Amino acid sequence: MKKSTKDMSFIIVLLFLLSISKISTAIDTINTTQIFRDGDTLVSYGGVFELGFFSPGNSRNGYVGIWYKKIPGNTVVWVANKETPLTSVSGILKVIEPGVLAILNNTNNIVWFLNTSTVAQNPILQLLDSGNLVLREARDDNLENFLWQSFEYLSDTTLPSTKFGLNYVTGKESFLSSWKTNEDPSPGNFTFHLDTTGYP
Ligand SMILES: *[C@@H]1O[C@H](CO)[C@@H](O)[C@H](O)[C@H]1NC(C)=O
Ligand SMILES: *[C@@H]1O[C@H](CO)[C@@H](O)[C@H](O)[C@H]1NC(C)=O
Ligand SMILES: *[C@@H]1O[C@H](CO)[C@@H](O)[C@H](O)[C@H]1NC(C)=O
Ligand SMILES: *[C@@H]1O[C@H](CO)[C@@H](O)[C@H](O)[C@H]1NC(C)=O
Repeated sequence: MKKSTKDMSFIIVLLFLLSISKISTAIDTINTTQIFRDGDTLVSYGGVFELGFFSPGNSRNGYVGIWYKKIPGNTVVWVANKETPLTSVSGILKVIEPGVLAILNNTNNIVWFLNTSTVAQNPILQLLDSGNLVLREARDDNLENFLWQSFEYLSDTTLPSTKFGLNYVTGKESFLSSWKTNEDPSPGNFTFHLDTTGYP
């Protein structure tokens, strides 16, 4: 009798530990050796945002995007391969040294990539709680040193700290583009810019 109570509490502790380890499997980074497939998700540290593969509405095209994790419904705030969807649902998102982020289809062809043209020793991709997706050197989390950040490449949504407007240093403009349709995130008929002429 005594023993089985002990066994029981052992099992309960075990189940508890298992449930913790289940929670901690939510990851917010991927490195060059990890493979991120269709069905996997990155969850930002505080659980605010999630990144993964998705197909909008009834579309059969596959995209990699970021959405609010806790808000139900379509809350996509950013899309990577807006104009080059996966036509088969399965795909892979990969960080490739020295500083490339790529989406491959199931025949291993690159359907979308970004090249930071930076030589990183150990680049990782991280989804931050602000909704910013950043490519950075694993040991360097200084915001100024990010190799690339989605906040500088907007889709149709701004978030509280997105970089909207003209960067006077790089000359790069960040603006919003509407989706073509609810099922097609490629740039639609409307763009929204900050008028940088005259006084701010
Ligand atoms: C990537 O992360 C995995 C899991 O944490 C780790 O085992 C692996 O060594 C890491 N690879 C690099 C290149 O850091
Ligand atoms: C993968 O992408 C390549 C190049 O875009 C394309 O030719 C091929 O048909 C794609 N494969 C699948 C299964 O969609
Ligand atoms: C990325 O850019 C570097 C430097 O410009 C170049 O050597 C490399 O081939 C590029 N990689 C891809 C995948 O385009
Ligand atoms: C965008 O413009 C094209 C050409 O003017 C038009 O045919 C289409 O209906 C427009 N789409 C939307 C969503 O307004």
